Amino acid sequence: MAMQTIQELFEHELKDMYSAEHSLLDALEQMAGESSDREIKKAYTQHRKETQGQIKRLEKIFKSMGQKPQKETCPGIEGLIKEKKAFMRERPSGELVEFFNIGAAQKTERYEITAYELLIDMADKLGMAEAVELLEQNLQEEEAALNKLKMIASEFDVSEEGAEEDEEEKTTSSKR
Ligand SMILES: [Fe+2]
Ligand SMILES: [Fe+2]
Repeated sequence: MAMQTIQELFEHELKDMYSAEHSLLDALEQMAGESSDREIKKAYTQHRKETQGQIKRLEKIFKSMGQKPQKETCPGIEGLIKEKKAFMRERPSGELVEFFNIGAAQKTERYEITAYELLIDMADKLGMAEAVELLEQNLQEEEAALNKLKMIASEFDVSEEGAEEDEEEKTTSSKR
């Protein structure tokens, strides 16, 4: 049946984020495992914990609509995960993986921030006050996570040496 109402769109986007948050649980766990920096590892682990709480809030919203929580694959987030897989095929150094992950995490936060802003706007239009409140809490956590990641990125030192070594390796392998 054709989608016609804001209510339907809201439900669709809610399912999309419900799926995205689950995918991000795995991604954050993986990035924490790949990190060799205590502070960065902690940031991922902490945001993973927040993500579990965000999922609970989304479940509350489904419940308030008399629905069971449902996932609808989120191609936006899946795309970012694919991007990571393609990057890993380049056999990057551990340091570059670390730096790439900080950037990828920021991309996901920006995606989540916009998604939540739109959901809040729709919930507001639909007069769903409780949903607005719950979604606002998720939004705030995403914004705080983005700010934290921006700080981590600005403090991150990429060693020139490591970068050069990688360049050499690439040139040699392409000559082969
Ligand atoms: Fe999230
Ligand atoms: Fe997030």
